Amino acid sequence: MKKKLLSVLLTGALAASMFVGCGTSTETTDTPSDAGTETESTEEAGSTAAGGTKVGVAMPTKDLQRWNQDGDNMKKELEAAGYEVDLQYASNDVQTQVSQIENMINSGCNVLVVAAIEGSSLGEAMDMAAEKDIPVIAYDRLIMNSDAVSYYATFDNYKVGQVQGQYIIDKLDLENTTDTFTMEITAGDPGDNNAGFFYNGAYDLLKEYIDNGTLVVKSGQIEFAEVATPAWATETAQSRMETILSSNYANEDLDVCLCSNDSTALGVENALASNYKGEYPIITGQDCDIENTKNMINGKQSMSVFKDTRTLASQVVKMVGQILSGEEVDVNDTETYDNGTGVIPSYLCEPVFADADNYKELLIDSGYYTEDQLK
Ligand code: BGC
Repeated sequence: MKKKLLSVLLTGALAASMFVGCGTSTETTDTPSDAGTETESTEEAGSTAAGGTKVGVAMPTKDLQRWNQDGDNMKKELEAAGYEVDLQYASNDVQTQVSQIENMINSGCNVLVVAAIEGSSLGEAMDMAAEKDIPVIAYDRLIMNSDAVSYYATFDNYKVGQVQGQYIIDKLDLENTTDTFTMEITAGDPGDNNAGFFYNGAYDLLKEYIDNGTLVVKSGQIEFAEVATPAWATETAQSRMETILSSNYANEDLDVCLCSNDSTALGVENALASNYKGEYPIITGQDCDIENTKNMINGKQSMSVFKDTRTLASQVVKMVGQILSGEEVDVNDTETYDNGTGVIPSYLCEPVFADADNYKELLIDSGYYTEDQLK
């Protein structure tokens, strides 16, 4: 396990940690931003970071629903704990994210929480954080090849894939059947370290059924590199599936679409809606995005995996507090996530199976969505 020495904390950060819980009065202001940059920042009017502890939160994009929820939750929870928050969204543009992180460092952020657009492209900004001894928590997506990363907080990404794979096995009773079924696979962004974990989690369970011919992938596209979806884009997943449908499923039903997440599942669902006449396949997803949850309710998507972003935000806020006060940081995995410089101590939250039968309890009763949002 990688040893992370965080003993050299900024004096300001230490002093400021005493403010935690004191409820600094904050005011939301729009900060000037580069073209295409989505910015949201809170700062005590007229103050500098020296007056309090400031946490920089770098999120990838506002285009996908989950990151808006993650950003909102982080901001709310950090502010409730008394921190100043500099929350930035980078429109899925790597260079924008690098500049945003550099600005956070220059403006005196004491801790950085970063959900990387591309895990391997934050080198410069990470070097700068390391030089200034600013602790970095990789949020949901691991930052690769940098020893500036102190901790990683995410969901159990391999398990997400397993939940999807096991669902397909159970739904089709693959262990006992003598039938064969057609399946196509849509995975995530190759620049996102999570994408391989999701794919492997499902593939490791389904491989034996592909190998013994129970699951037939007519497109022949099985390897991660063949089924990946750059930037997790719905449109890319849609156009790829349109091609697959017209080439392979004009006269035959497609039984299963293993999709790594909801944005790609939505693309597949759009392709099916316009290019497919047969019986609707089993479709997997992840995130319980609003559009996908509606599709689950309408019978167009079979399942999703709920990752309660409130739980992740609470855990990260707890870790920020522990880092700043020099306490032992709460981790539950010190083996799985090697970012190329060693294993990063991680906290993995539990992903939960979701479908049309349990969504009310998971999503509405828990206050994650209102009933109206799903109409
Ligand atoms: C997250 C998923 C999300 C995907 C696309 C991944 O890193 O873990 O929850 O669906 O990015 O935003």
